[in-house]
Amino acid sequence: MKRSTKSTVTLAGIALASFLVSYTALTAQGGGQAPPPAANTPPKPLVPVAASSVAANPDQYVGEFVTMTGAVEALLTKTSFSVDQDKTKSTGKDVLVLAPTLQKQADANGYVTIIGQMIKFDAADVATKLKGYTIDLSAEDQAKFKGKPVILATAVINTAGVDIAKKPIPAMSADELALQKIMTKLPPAQAALRKALDGSSADLTKEQATILKTAFTEIETFFKAKANEEATKWAADGKRHADSVLMNVANANFDAAKTSVTPLGATCASCHGKYRERMEDGTFRIKAGS
Ligand code: HEC
Repeated sequence: MKRSTKSTVTLAGIALASFLVSYTALTAQGGGQAPPPAANTPPKPLVPVAASSVAANPDQYVGEFVTMTGAVEALLTKTSFSVDQDKTKSTGKDVLVLAPTLQKQADANGYVTIIGQMIKFDAADVATKLKGYTIDLSAEDQAKFKGKPVILATAVINTAGVDIAKKPIPAMSADELALQKIMTKLPPAQAALRKALDGSSADLTKEQATILKTAFTEIETFFKAKANEEATKWAADGKRHADSVLMNVANANFDAAKTSVTPLGATCASCHGKYRERMEDGTFRIKAGS
């Protein structure tokens, strides 16, 4: 028994290690676009429930991430409403839904599917779980729902299949557009550099390494202005690798020049891993880092 547990753990370790290797290889390829986990991914599998079950047995679901179906009972505020089982009559067993990102009101009496964590309503607990959210329920409703089940919703899907709690994707800022202009030059320059090195062409190698060096210098300036030391350093590292290509090619040492290609690409992956965020539409933004 003990033995099989151990070998399972080892196997899982091997699987994880090979996943990490292929993941790293993928992200190291310049623009590396490995899909990141979706935002708001629940830490546990979602439990499908009906609003009536939650209302009847709240203790069973406390802390769980659920997909709860039900009918909208009362539209309470801009970011909250309650859900009941039956759309034709009030059962008095409604479940509160707090949806901080709600974009529009739910349809009165319409069926909805809500995704979120279930807890028992307590203002202090809600404040710790939903950072930056201000409860907008009336004092009366807060008292009414105190200790009753509430879903902290990340998605509210209506009968048209539309998630009305989905935040629109923000437009790229001026900073992001400026950085994007630099970034888009990098993958083709990396590919052309590899080709130039393989063909031992000094002129083409110099040309591409110079494009990379210039771009890294601009990235360095960009992040320096943002007082982001770590990103500034990665950009400086990239610049240094481009410089060593130039230096080695000036000495006609293509083999030495080639050794800079992989570490140069690694600087892209390092920075993207921490400071680049992929939106659902496939576009990128600057991430604040952590
Ligand atoms: C110091 C940080 C940093 C380094 C180094 C870096 N990037 Fe980026 N890159 C970003 C950020 C942040 C974004 C997303 C924001 C943006 O595009 O404005 C980005 C976006 C991109 C994009 C997407 C552009 C688009 O919108 O289509 C590509 C492609 C890209 N980088 C390629 C590279 C390559 C290739 C390298 C290395 C040769 C590299 N980057 C090095 C930070 C970096």
